Amino acid sequence: MKFRISPTSTLQGGIQAAADKSISHRSVILGAIANGVTTVRDILEGEDVLATISAFRKMGVSITRDSPDPADRNYVIEGVGLHGLEKPGEALDMGNSGTAFRLLGGLLAAQPWTCVLTGDEYLRNRPMGRIITPLTRMGARIESDEGRPPLTINPASGLHAITYTPPMASAQVKSAILLAGLYADGQTIVIESARTRDHTERMLRGFGYPIQSGGNTITLQGGGQLQGRAVSVPADLSSAAFFILAGLITADSELLLRNTGINPSRSGVLKILTRMGGRIELENQREISGEPVADIRVKSSSLEGVEIGGDDIALSIDEIPVIAVAAACAGSGSKTRISDAEELRVKESDRIHSVVRGLSALGVEVIEHPDGMTITGGKLQGGEVDSFGDHRIAMAFAIAGTVAKEPVVVSNCENVATSFPDFYQTARQTGVNIAIL
Ligand code: S3P
Repeated sequence: MKFRISPTSTLQGGIQAAADKSISHRSVILGAIANGVTTVRDILEGEDVLATISAFRKMGVSITRDSPDPADRNYVIEGVGLHGLEKPGEALDMGNSGTAFRLLGGLLAAQPWTCVLTGDEYLRNRPMGRIITPLTRMGARIESDEGRPPLTINPASGLHAITYTPPMASAQVKSAILLAGLYADGQTIVIESARTRDHTERMLRGFGYPIQSGGNTITLQGGGQLQGRAVSVPADLSSAAFFILAGLITADSELLLRNTGINPSRSGVLKILTRMGGRIELENQREISGEPVADIRVKSSSLEGVEIGGDDIALSIDEIPVIAVAAACAGSGSKTRISDAEELRVKESDRIHSVVRGLSALGVEVIEHPDGMTITGGKLQGGEVDSFGDHRIAMAFAIAGTVAKEPVVVSNCENVATSFPDFYQTARQTGVNIAIL
């Protein structure tokens, strides 16, 4: 599938972006291993989360859609408790989802049966040594294809708690260790080199599981219980970010992104775009199911290049493609340097390479570095951009098409359905001139 986007201005209106993917995965995982019933309102019905739901159904958990109305994305999960999961009859296929794969890796390491965890062609190329190493130190018995999926996870003879500093900033690695830590004897401690999204910690607390965090250290004691609860999922800031970008770069525009998560451990994009000159306001700030939420208002802005690196990166890890497009739309000649972002090379695609290729195809002056890129602002030309099968690359360049001189075609867009199944409809609703080819 391809998107063709033609020059567009005057985007207006209020929209709600797709539901939060990170929170949706965690609500299913924790709901499944809690005691009693968990209800999840407004879950993301993207392919990644559907893969997680399907995996738990294969492990004997009843997960039902609460309403026949497709607009109501409410689910009921009958939790089986920490020790109630059943051996699945087949391999668990997590599709394109690194989050589902790595979080389940932690959970499955503690189960008393063998199972196989696999994924699609993109996921099978992604590094899993980052969870295998700490889980093995906890006593897990995991076989892999030289650190890549599929993983065969064998029963351990009891997991023990560890203190671990992941060598990379990764909420997925932290969460895998914490989920295994629920089953370990003693105190599991994760010390982060840079703060990463804390949805697992917040949600564990919400399910009544004691967990301490202070500074960059998270501690939990194994052997407790989770209690089922009601979870409401806000819109995903990472999905809203495409429309924040659209509102900022297109002329005469004003958009309101309703009910959007603004968790400070992952809202770096708002700070960075504001630093670039973006007019972004937070309205109606509140808390939903333990997560900070706001309506985000954005208006057409004149952007300038900035330096982005250090702590910026973990706090905006999924929004760097959006930020890169914003940088390309900054004032003519103004430079943005993105550094310390080598983690982007092991995302759904090598996002440094994908962004550099895409910007170059649109005539932008961009230099690739091992840990990032330097982008010079100016006018975008039209052209054809390969998304490399990466949902976030596809959507970032679809929005770039609104301000290019000529139409932009983005190819290989099927995986947009992993995180934002209604992206096309939402884009049309705001006035983006987008077609499916
Ligand atoms: C996620 C963590 C991040 C992020 C991903 C979602 C999560 O990955 O890129 O989209 O929900 O824990 P890393 O842990 O690899 O940084």
